[in-house]
Amino acid sequence: MKTTISLSTPAELETESLVAVVLDHAEPAPNVKEKDKKPQLKVATNDPAVQSVAADLLASGEVTGKPFETNLMHRPVTLMAKRLLLVSGGSAKKISSYDLRRIAGAAVRALKSRGIRSFAFIAPPSIPAEEAVRAIVEGAHVGNFDPDYYRSDRKDQKIDALTIVTSGDKSALEKAANEAQVIGESQNFTRDLVNEPSNRMTPTILADRAKKMSQEVGLKCEVYGADKIKELKMGAFWSVAQGSDEPPALIVMRYEPAGAPEKPVLGLVGKGITFDTGGISIKPADGMEKMKYDMAGGATMIGAMRAIALLKPKVKVIGIVCATENMPSGKAQKPGDVQIAMSGKSIEIINTDAEGRLVLADGLFYARQLGCTHLVDAATLTGAVVVALGYNNAGIFANDDDMYNRFHSANAKAGEKMWRMPLDDEYKEHIRSGIADIVNSGGRWGGAITAAMFLKEFAEETPWIHLDIAGTAWMEDQKPWIAKGPSGIALRSLVEFVKSFAG
Ligand code: BES
Ligand code: MN
Ligand code: ZN
Repeated sequence: MKTTISLSTPAELETESLVAVVLDHAEPAPNVKEKDKKPQLKVATNDPAVQSVAADLLASGEVTGKPFETNLMHRPVTLMAKRLLLVSGGSAKKISSYDLRRIAGAAVRALKSRGIRSFAFIAPPSIPAEEAVRAIVEGAHVGNFDPDYYRSDRKDQKIDALTIVTSGDKSALEKAANEAQVIGESQNFTRDLVNEPSNRMTPTILADRAKKMSQEVGLKCEVYGADKIKELKMGAFWSVAQGSDEPPALIVMRYEPAGAPEKPVLGLVGKGITFDTGGISIKPADGMEKMKYDMAGGATMIGAMRAIALLKPKVKVIGIVCATENMPSGKAQKPGDVQIAMSGKSIEIINTDAEGRLVLADGLFYARQLGCTHLVDAATLTGAVVVALGYNNAGIFANDDDMYNRFHSANAKAGEKMWRMPLDDEYKEHIRSGIADIVNSGGRWGGAITAAMFLKEFAEETPWIHLDIAGTAWMEDQKPWIAKGPSGIALRSLVEFVKSFAG
């Protein structure tokens, strides 16, 4: 999607469709029942021509002002645009860039389903212009993605060109738009990878996609196979990979910009299980098809590395993805087996379906060996995090408060929802083993936390963040601003987080 900044008057823009946000300015009145409340709807623009063209429609009572409601007018007199799309954004008092991202996504989805390929979005004046531009561009990219690749009748309708109508310093706004475009495209790149079924996204194919991307954006990328995994003594990673006929891949992407300080070195480690059957502790058939998205953490790191390479912050970053299938077979590991991780810790395998933490254990340790001073991992790690937080918040775990605070600000900027979960030492008793150093499953209760406790054993003293995106990496339903399917969660926060180290 090509993005352009325009400082002209909205009414004078020639476009397939002008898009304006409708906001409700009604103050809460004490003695009025909910059903008798009258919205006071206004178009969020300083252009009187746009306001007056929408005035009759807004006064008609047909528009409720509920978030994401859309109304399309044709041939709006006094405007040069062919159409005017009104997207409601709820309360004027509450609107933030978080909402604006979704409103932009909803506008894209409303227009592209009508076959429209370009439009101009009026940035609401109440949000600082640069922030608004970023939110609109990112949200528009999110809305532009549809997962139905393999449908013979896929329409592949996409918005090709977006103009943002705003005011301020044009070159600063253009810079913001370009950066947001890189982020939006990288998020969709990640979603592309996650969307592919496991027969079309094996560890080898995932590694090839990472290599190709790395070449395009100028990253170093190495891919290692079974021999190297064994040579590195990655006994935890290999214990999962040994059960599959598909060769595993250890993907290492390096971003080392000229002029970056020696330290910090940020390590982004992703779970890349291209299909999770559960292994010998096999999962029930119902819903197993969803386990193609068990590589979302890895895909997020590959997409984040893409964005970082293009945005060029002055900080070193290493991206590591541990990619393999988790299969039952005659070669598969069995419950009760003991494995020695790369760090030397012994692990009693209680449940072969707790495989994500095994591959990440070695991924995290390897990142530290490569010199990473700060670690972030992302993984569709547990069903338990979905029980705890549902589909709206990713789980965030940290062994270091400074690290958490930094990530939290990145989160807020990026407009992604994550909720911190506890990681007290008391939980460690759940992963004690009678035969080895630790077990790989802490059982049912607090499952997201005991999984994180397991990972903490391998991050040790290195400042570390763990993101459990099992509930947020896949949209179970379509929303006005996003299709059903892969969400690309965490990529934007990761990029903001990395940027925060570059000053
Ligand atoms: N990949 C799953 C977690 C998952 C569940 C991701 C639902 C997305 C949606 C993970 O490997 C897994 O199987 N976890 C087990 C852990 C248990 C055996 C300790 C789980 O959550 O049931
Ligand atoms: Mn599993
Ligand atoms: Zn898994």
